Amino acid sequence: MYIETTRKLLEFIRKSPTAFQAVEEMKNRLTEQGFEELSEKEHWKLVPGGKYLVTRNHSALIAFCIPQTEVWKFHIMASHSDSPAFKIKENPEIKIENSYVKLNVEKYGGMLMAPWFDRPLSVAGRVIIRGRDGLEEKLVNVERDLVMIPNLAIHMNREANNGFSYNPQKDLLPLFAAGSTDRTLLEIIAEQTGIPKEDILSHDLFLYNRMPGTIWGADQEFVSSARLDDLQCAFSSMEGLLRSQHQNSITVHCVMDNEEVGSGTKQGAASTFLKDTLLRINMGLGRTYEEYLMTLAGSFMVSADNAHALHPNHTDKADPVNRPVLNKGIVIKYNANQKYCTDAVSAAEFKELCAKADVPYQTFVNRSDIAGGSTLGNISNTQVPMNTVDIGLPQLAMHSPYETAGVKDTEYLIRMAAELFA
Ligand code: CO
Repeated sequence: MYIETTRKLLEFIRKSPTAFQAVEEMKNRLTEQGFEELSEKEHWKLVPGGKYLVTRNHSALIAFCIPQTEVWKFHIMASHSDSPAFKIKENPEIKIENSYVKLNVEKYGGMLMAPWFDRPLSVAGRVIIRGRDGLEEKLVNVERDLVMIPNLAIHMNREANNGFSYNPQKDLLPLFAAGSTDRTLLEIIAEQTGIPKEDILSHDLFLYNRMPGTIWGADQEFVSSARLDDLQCAFSSMEGLLRSQHQNSITVHCVMDNEEVGSGTKQGAASTFLKDTLLRINMGLGRTYEEYLMTLAGSFMVSADNAHALHPNHTDKADPVNRPVLNKGIVIKYNANQKYCTDAVSAAEFKELCAKADVPYQTFVNRSDIAGGSTLGNISNTQVPMNTVDIGLPQLAMHSPYETAGVKDTEYLIRMAAELFA
């Protein structure tokens, strides 16, 4: 069961090299299962028992189910679709002494840079094209090994193993072609998509790691892949939604973009996307604004973003007591300064959920002398205030292009999500 679920997760990640493809994959899976796609530009006609989804910017998605009987509370699970990567800049080709062509890229989010070297990479994202009836968006994935960021040999950088500091404008530009080529990246994308090059007006394109995910370890206990943060949580939330009956609440699967750059975009957790959607659900069911506020007051959100597991080579980096490990269940995250919005109330509610779902949980708190990261929960709460817990699945090498987690934990999170959405 665990292995089967993990394989499905890896298949989902393989098809989701960027947030755009992740949203497309979720949209396809949900519509296959009877979800109706709504447009933010049109009136919504909602009915009890209905299942719906809406996207924003093609990179954030909210799916929701309305119970048959009247139950006025939202149960929400929020995660994010983006991961740190390198974004292709405008006019990216740089010729080097008529011998090479490299691509000009910039950092998206705070990544570990070293593991991007010396591995096959490719390019995916979206292009906007001139269509028959105006502008059209096309998703793009060059599904072959296309570029590589070659390391500098140890002989030319004797300091490479002594804490070398990388300069993203100098050290991280990927090699794209030999100097003899006259093809540009957009020409390759035009060929791949069958769109005339002159019709491509603009692009949001990213590098991604070509190495497929794998299950490994003495007893096949580990899984490694790109983008486990946070597609492991997004996938679990979606699968939980599909497994459940939606009788006890209006259930909401919410996947936001741009968490890795602070969430402050129209499709990020700081935007009104979730608030607008919840308001329209409320209005669509004939309820007043006061009734919306009453509903929020009784609602519950699980903010799901991966957590740091105890590192085998760096046990000193973990809190002395709260030391989550792979395959031991969902991690509840705490922070006194409210980077995580877990409090006594939401933690208790979450522990009861885990007990009902029969899944284990563990706890994470940063060492008091290490500043941790932040996530969606508290940012989202400024738009949609409600009782919220921050959780995640334990993982190693967060923000590497190849991260490691436990094979059992995805299934645990799906079971918890199914209970939340029961
Ligand atoms: Co994350």
